[in-house]
Amino acid sequence: MATEHQLLSTAEHETMPGKYVRPESQRPRLTEVISDARIPVVDLASPDRAVVVSAIGDACRTHGFFQVQNHGIDASLITAVLAVAQDFFRLPAEEKAKLYSDDPARKMRLSTSFNVRKEAVHNWRDYLRLHCHPLDQFVPDWPSNPASFKEIMSTYCREVRELGFRLYSAISESLGLEEGYIKKTLGEQEQHMAVNFYPRCPEPELTYGLPAHTDPNALTILLMDDQVAGLQVLNDGKWIAVNPQPGALVINIGDQLQALSNGKYRSVWHRAVVNSDKERMSVASFLCPCNSVELGPAAKLITDETPAVYKNYTYDEYYKKFWSRNLDQEHCLELFRT
Ligand code: OGA
Ligand code: NI
Repeated sequence: MATEHQLLSTAEHETMPGKYVRPESQRPRLTEVISDARIPVVDLASPDRAVVVSAIGDACRTHGFFQVQNHGIDASLITAVLAVAQDFFRLPAEEKAKLYSDDPARKMRLSTSFNVRKEAVHNWRDYLRLHCHPLDQFVPDWPSNPASFKEIMSTYCREVRELGFRLYSAISESLGLEEGYIKKTLGEQEQHMAVNFYPRCPEPELTYGLPAHTDPNALTILLMDDQVAGLQVLNDGKWIAVNPQPGALVINIGDQLQALSNGKYRSVWHRAVVNSDKERMSVASFLCPCNSVELGPAAKLITDETPAVYKNYTYDEYYKKFWSRNLDQEHCLELFRT
């Protein structure tokens, strides 16, 4: 049943409903967040490929996150994506209600929080989830309002996919694998998108936009609002704020690349916090392995000194496990250790 009143973006909230309030021990403690740290920034246009490859390898090992500049996606396209995403969330409630679903199995859904059917406490986020590959199969079901939505988002999806594959080459090389290894091993990749909308929140200290989680897929490319911060990454036991760099995209290693790298590269905990002044948007693109391929550590990275840390499994098994849990439980990959 479509129940639009569950969406946050259909009303202004002067007070915070109790179902969003975290117990004391689980709150974000925003004053303890490190705000002046910087996650690594990699210039993809650097003429020295070896430098790019080693910078990416270092970032994957130490932070599991990095920002890329000169990534080849036009600034005007990025601006258009954020604008059309914002217009989408500003549509009237009746229009959005038509797309609402809280069924995680739906390939296209406008939803709220993370998994409203299962959670005890909700998150201060609405999101539009889309499947993006192959485009001709999924785009017909995407929102047709705003009128330019399909065209702008499909152009962006195509470019993000290419960028993802270029990053796979560099990541493969940085692990000492053949350049085409990751792309080949993950099979015909699915691609999903979450258009996240975090409304202004009256009590940001009591809740999350997204609580701490790791991404279950292989690689995530995040386009963030460059005016409003909100993403935070766990590093050495401390939460650090990711300050948006104009024009940059944020890349993070998902659980499947942690497994493939046999634990060398890290799919780190991250979260989105909200604020009381400004709404915030982000557009996350998830590259996901083919459902049926066998995943696990690359054979070349399993040695006597570094035995396999993870079992082999299919993405289908992994993804089902991920969505059957709460977002902020133990690292899902822990369930797939040898
Ligand atoms: C995600 C995510 C962070 C953000 O969608 O998986 O981590 O800043 N988003 O929106
Ligand atoms: Ni995430």
